[in-house]
Amino acid sequence: MNLTKADFQISRAQKEILNGHKSFVVWLTGFSGSGKSTVANQLEIALFEKGVRSFCLDGDNTRLGINKDLGFSSADRTENIRRVAEMAKLFLESGTIVITSFISPLISDREMAKKIIGSTDFVEVFINCPLAICEQRDVKGLYAKARKGEIKDFTGIDSPFEAPLNSDIELFTNQNSIEECVKIILEKISEKLFVSL
Ligand code: ADX
Repeated sequence: MNLTKADFQISRAQKEILNGHKSFVVWLTGFSGSGKSTVANQLEIALFEKGVRSFCLDGDNTRLGINKDLGFSSADRTENIRRVAEMAKLFLESGTIVITSFISPLISDREMAKKIIGSTDFVEVFINCPLAICEQRDVKGLYAKARKGEIKDFTGIDSPFEAPLNSDIELFTNQNSIEECVKIILEKISEKLFVSL
């Protein structure tokens, strides 16, 4: 491999000091329609109001751009998650909080993401909303299409979702309000945000 890693002088630690907080990844996992993007959005607003620099990486958005060549086979989902984890890792180096919202249905793929990012910088949040509720909401109309067979390999219908067994945070978006969910995340991460800069 004819590659040499370039070293840049301004370190992540210096950027974190400049920003006034640490950087890490808040990885949201859950069914389509479980509320990942809504939680990500409200979390980002709350962080912004605290002066915390953040960036949201979102499944639909990245699949419209950098990952537009990927579908929903398990191999493509793995590649999707690999690229997202690598992107998140780059954002970490900029001293930014990264909020990712991807179904990321397989334990092995989330483990891969954790390995790429580094376990100390990876906060796994399970957006736990029962499939029946996600399907009932059907915000994007995709569950109806999947039930009619118009979309194949749809998570929860004919493609698996492996719930996290040991997530750092578990949120019940069908029981708690978005404000409550965001508060729970903020309580969990606030120590990590400002610890020993
Ligand atoms: S992941 O499984 O690879 O992590 P990702 O989060 O990027 O999925 O994309 C999921 C989004 O793609 C869903 O919210 C939905 O809008 C859309 N989508 C389209 N087809 C599918 C499908 N077969 N399964 C799940 N989501 C799908």
